[in-house]
Amino acid sequence: MPTRLTPEQLRSYRWFGPNDLRSFGHRSRARQMGLGPEDWEGKPIIAILNTWSELNPCHLHFKILAEHVKKGILQAGGMPVEVPLLSLSESYMKPTTMLYRNLLAMETEEVLRCHPIDGAVLLGACDKTTPALIMGGTSAEIPFIFVPGGPMLRGNWRGQTLGSGSDAWKFWDEKRAGRLSEEAWCEIEDGIARSHGHCMTMGTASTMTAIAETLGLTVPGASSIPAVDMAHWRMAAQSGRQAVENAWNDLRPSKILNADAFHNAIVVDMAVGGSTNAIIHLIAMAARAGIALPLECFDEISRTTPRLADLRPAGRFLMEDFYFAGGLPALLAQLLDLLRPDTLTINGKTLRENIGGAEIFNKEVIRTRDNPVAAEAGTAILRGNLAPRGAVIKHSAMEPRFLKHTGPAVVFCDYNDLAARIEDPALPVTADSVILLQNGGPCGAPGMPEWGMLPIPKKLLEQGVRDMLRISDARMSGTSYGACVLHVAPEAAIGGPLALVRDGDLITLDVEARRIDVALTEEEFAARRAEWKQRPPHARRGFLSLFLNEVTQADEGCDFRFLHAEGSLAEPEIH
Ligand code: FES
Repeated sequence: MPTRLTPEQLRSYRWFGPNDLRSFGHRSRARQMGLGPEDWEGKPIIAILNTWSELNPCHLHFKILAEHVKKGILQAGGMPVEVPLLSLSESYMKPTTMLYRNLLAMETEEVLRCHPIDGAVLLGACDKTTPALIMGGTSAEIPFIFVPGGPMLRGNWRGQTLGSGSDAWKFWDEKRAGRLSEEAWCEIEDGIARSHGHCMTMGTASTMTAIAETLGLTVPGASSIPAVDMAHWRMAAQSGRQAVENAWNDLRPSKILNADAFHNAIVVDMAVGGSTNAIIHLIAMAARAGIALPLECFDEISRTTPRLADLRPAGRFLMEDFYFAGGLPALLAQLLDLLRPDTLTINGKTLRENIGGAEIFNKEVIRTRDNPVAAEAGTAILRGNLAPRGAVIKHSAMEPRFLKHTGPAVVFCDYNDLAARIEDPALPVTADSVILLQNGGPCGAPGMPEWGMLPIPKKLLEQGVRDMLRISDARMSGTSYGACVLHVAPEAAIGGPLALVRDGDLITLDVEARRIDVALTEEEFAARRAEWKQRPPHARRGFLSLFLNEVTQADEGCDFRFLHAEGSLAEPEIH
């Protein structure tokens, strides 16, 4: 049994308990909000950190969601307070939400630290909100529960199921190839996002919420529930009740987030065919907990973990199907021998206890171990003279002919160059060429946008080409697919080898050997490096300047150097 705190040991007691002038101020201002001693005496104060915004369609239901969390907190004898945070809207933020993940993480940490908060419920869903909230909560070291916002319903167009992102890319290429009418394209726009909730493919949002659940940070089964299912409200209330219990039990994130929990998270990332973005986020989240995740961990676990979820973009089904097939607990139950399932979770039970007895109800959607979608998960870590600090490829979601491929580079020096020339009929490109984008990384873009699924030139689309080898230091949307080598580190903007490649250089990808190389000698590299000039920074002031000065490369998680665990603050003395 965990040791329970006394009311005087609650963090908030330091604000409301003492008989002094400072506490008089805190109590009188609480009374200004219509509260009284019955609201704060002997009750944990539970903050609901709400990333609601009318510019974030994935979080549009969070006001109602927060009410259900509040209900649970009140039921369990806690005091709920709702606090707004920055909302990272994948749909609208330019150049990319990744530029702001660390800002939300910082905001989360500092909001938790500076207020009278004994425990927290973090509401997130859209891609970067999940890692940001967890990174901040981990560094704040205050008991928290993550409530995933839930995937939206399946899309629909003329009776066909549509998946977020994946089908937009697919039909856009059909339209560019002249095979889809303007009218049909408008109908797809109308039908691809039918309810609130996050993207319902196994993109970054679904991957990260599944990871949050596997880490032990949600109530069991939470991540698979569709946003509009009433089970989602019940899960929210359950999370509120549990948050009160955890505040009394002082169940801090450091008691949950250990190396075994992150091992389990990587296993699940691989078994669901998760987004490549999860690699960067997991490295950053683990670093906040003081745990190093070398890139090779992902490769090793990918080789030994079967892909059991047949979900788009790599597979056939969507999150609603996954939920009705048994959801994440059913998938986890298939992986027991690969997991380290005795990790503690936020309901005080182990992962093993939480998934005990979970069944699969549709073996097409969630496969059994004797009938996997693929024997290996299909994410590889590449190294070579083009990526000395690593690169990533999701080879499960590309045409097999690129598993071993050599072709001449067609180089674009940045995204504007790509946009200006990719459709040029005179571009010297064939189906065997390798399209290479420079300056798409953390400092180069900036913010490492999801540009990595580089467009296939229209003239090749018209010839029926649907996949090409593409290379960049950018990321790729979790809903994307294709032979895209991503996260090349070090990035071009800081002088990585990617910056030195020129048109016509022969590039070789060998997935089996985990290599990505360009046919240049050391002497040729040295000569080109001597000529290379670094571009001026994108900004010299403001948050962007901080970002450019402090962001780490993809293999280190793109967190800020000063936010790593070694820099964690002790609980400040507050008077
Ligand atoms: Fe929010 Fe995809 S746009 S999860």
